[in-house]
Amino acid sequence: MKKDFINLADFSSGQLEGLLGRTRADKQLLRQGKLPASLQHKTLAMVFEKPSLRTRVSFETAMTQLGGHAIYLTNTDIGIDSREAIQDIARVLARMCDAIVARTFTHELVKDFGRHAEVPVINALSDFSHPCQAMADMLTIGERFGDLAGRTLAFVGDGNNVARSLAVACSKLGMKFILASPPGYTLDETFLKTLPGEAVSLTSDPKTAVAGADVIYTDTWVSMGQEADKQQRVQDFEGFQVNGELLAAAADDAIVMHDLPAYRGYEITDEVFEAHAETIFAEAENRLHFQRTLLNVLITEGGIK
Ligand code: CP
Ligand code: NVA
Repeated sequence: MKKDFINLADFSSGQLEGLLGRTRADKQLLRQGKLPASLQHKTLAMVFEKPSLRTRVSFETAMTQLGGHAIYLTNTDIGIDSREAIQDIARVLARMCDAIVARTFTHELVKDFGRHAEVPVINALSDFSHPCQAMADMLTIGERFGDLAGRTLAFVGDGNNVARSLAVACSKLGMKFILASPPGYTLDETFLKTLPGEAVSLTSDPKTAVAGADVIYTDTWVSMGQEADKQQRVQDFEGFQVNGELLAAAADDAIVMHDLPAYRGYEITDEVFEAHAETIFAEAENRLHFQRTLLNVLITEGGIK
């Protein structure tokens, strides 16, 4: 039993497939107005060191839909390791709340929450990974194509937190993952060694990556915390934009995904974004559906079996 949801690598393919299946069933129940209020009188603490639209709103809405409550805490409020030690914050939250969501700069800090809190801890994005995003994306790909196995996802851009979680999700769920990135922005060897070799490939040519892909995925070139490097990064990612010319090298029925926020004119053109807006906003909505099921499972069952 895993108490926390911090990294997809901690879970078996069967566990991840199980979560997706339960999410699909719960989404159906919600649509029919039959989703039980299973988290009545339960409280979720949400700690954010970085800004958020989707993650905050989806977790908070999920708690409301299940009859519970969520408390949003920024680091200005709680002062991690400046006002109070992380181990004390985690233990206090665990005494009062039923689960903790944490969006942090360092991955170590989410793990610290997991180590020190007795209640389930969910990674809401760290510099290393964004597991909730990748699972919502897998749900979206399954809805678009009817299946995941045998599909190929081409990620064009930075080998960042989102790319890492997608690489793990793809390799666990029978998909191929190809990253097209400039030199210096690829996935590192230590991380690659944790993945089954045949599922993941790397290239520096976006056209090679998208040819034969079912899903073309991109994310910002400048992640939260990297703002000072923006000028250099924009220069380094030249040629890695998802635009009409790149899509001409892809299959006609390929879908384009973006975890958002999108920076039109940088990693994606406005034209491509708008042509694929239906998929991109379904992807955003699926954050709510996946995380609602995740909260329900973690809080009512104490973890993932
Ligand atoms: N995709 C995502 O995590 O969005 P936010 O940063 O707005 O939460
Ligand atoms: N890679 C981006 C994802 C935002 C949801 C970041 O870390 O800022």
